[in-house]
Amino acid sequence: MVYDAVRCVLPGEEFRGNADKSIPSDYFSAMLPGSAVKAEPVPDQLPENGGERKRKKKMRDRNPIPQIKDIHEIRAQFPLLAASGLVYLDNSATTQKPECVLKAMEDYYRNYNANPFRGLYSISEQATEAYEDARRSVSDFIHAADPSEIIFTRNATESLNLAAYSLGELLLKPGDEILVSIAEHHSNMLPWRLAAKRHGATVRYLEPDEEGLFSAETLENALCPKVKIAAVTHMSNIFGRVNDLKTFAEICHENGTLLAADGAQSVPHIPVDVQDLGVDFLAFSGHKMLGPMGIGVLYGKRELLTRMPPFLSGGEMIDMVTRDRIVYADIPHKFEAGTVNAADAVGLAEAVRFMENLGFDAMQEREEALTRRALEGMKAIRGVRVIGSGKARDHHGILTFVVEGVHPHDVAAIMDSEGIAVRAGHHCAQPLHAFLGIPSTTRASIMFYNTEEEIDRFLEVLSSVRRRMGYGG
Ligand SMILES: Cc1ncc(COP(=O)(O)O)c(C=O)c1O
Repeated sequence: MVYDAVRCVLPGEEFRGNADKSIPSDYFSAMLPGSAVKAEPVPDQLPENGGERKRKKKMRDRNPIPQIKDIHEIRAQFPLLAASGLVYLDNSATTQKPECVLKAMEDYYRNYNANPFRGLYSISEQATEAYEDARRSVSDFIHAADPSEIIFTRNATESLNLAAYSLGELLLKPGDEILVSIAEHHSNMLPWRLAAKRHGATVRYLEPDEEGLFSAETLENALCPKVKIAAVTHMSNIFGRVNDLKTFAEICHENGTLLAADGAQSVPHIPVDVQDLGVDFLAFSGHKMLGPMGIGVLYGKRELLTRMPPFLSGGEMIDMVTRDRIVYADIPHKFEAGTVNAADAVGLAEAVRFMENLGFDAMQEREEALTRRALEGMKAIRGVRVIGSGKARDHHGILTFVVEGVHPHDVAAIMDSEGIAVRAGHHCAQPLHAFLGIPSTTRASIMFYNTEEEIDRFLEVLSSVRRRMGYGG
């Protein structure tokens, strides 16, 4: 059997997308500044109807969440934080989970676990409804135009692999180029490199200034007609810096380039509106935003997802299969092959609700204040150098640092011996560490549920590290 790499189909298979590997000419004209992006009207997007209001009220009534008035009241809702006494400062790796998330998942398994989409009996329908409700919650959270633009995956890594594979199949040709920032987590670098390799394209790297900032000019200068895709993080997991994706998207679209963004660190910490940003894709993980491990999201613009071929194949992603013909299901199901992860989707929706309830203003205010306290304290410790900007508001809780003469693993081990969890190593950003000329670093990452006392404890132990390693003074 011969695989048609251009049309991405097997003989007899129906291809619903456009066999031409170029983006349709009206795609970018619709994106140009001044021309509002017209989303197709879909029932879910119409003004909130009675059913939608009832659904949200039902969720609110089930488990009301207090505002951040008293941080100790908030912390009490995180069983691991409440029970362990651990100073948890590895929130960029994964966050702790509030009781309501754990309960929602337990409730799913105890009371309505069944295979979603597959059963014609009530709990299967309930599971399907909860899964699709979760999709709507995530869609509202990032302001997608339509819930079908939300694909559930395992994590940000799988989301980015999906985007790179499928987009590569759709549009890459020999001689094309992909721009990737050198500050990317490996998850938003390697999938593009592999896609480039498969299609005879080339990867070029964008470099930041020493504070981790990518300017619009850097991007503009790197673009040329050959560049079909740019892959850039929204918030760096090393610098904590937020890139101006809205400007980047405008610049990319004027060049006929798609922008795929990594939102793994941004979505948990800043309000994200994908329509306002104008990005074509955004990937993130549930577990970094108070949700469970095992569920991630790929947001993609409807017109692109509709034309992209599937990444994985099997059950539930088809409309019809015969011996020699496959008709794919519509999005999002075309990209969700096999039994879906309903319990974790339910947990993620609960995490979204928790965050919405607290509100980004309150969460960001706390995170910035804690970051300022930590950063100012770190600046005052001899031999400690924080990577990136000197301003707390640029870090969004991410403080990556080196301690002169001390290996990051030793820093982390000393911290651990004092009940403080930080991360040490290259943080899945080896090319960035090579660019910075540092083999590895230590990272403390803050979440709104951390306390001033925890920051002070971290600073106290950090100030003792060099002495404990045998340095004087
Ligand atoms: C910026 C960034 N992108 C992607 C990822 C990958 O996330 P996951 O391992 O959940 O797929 C991470 C994880 O640390 C990250 O920090």
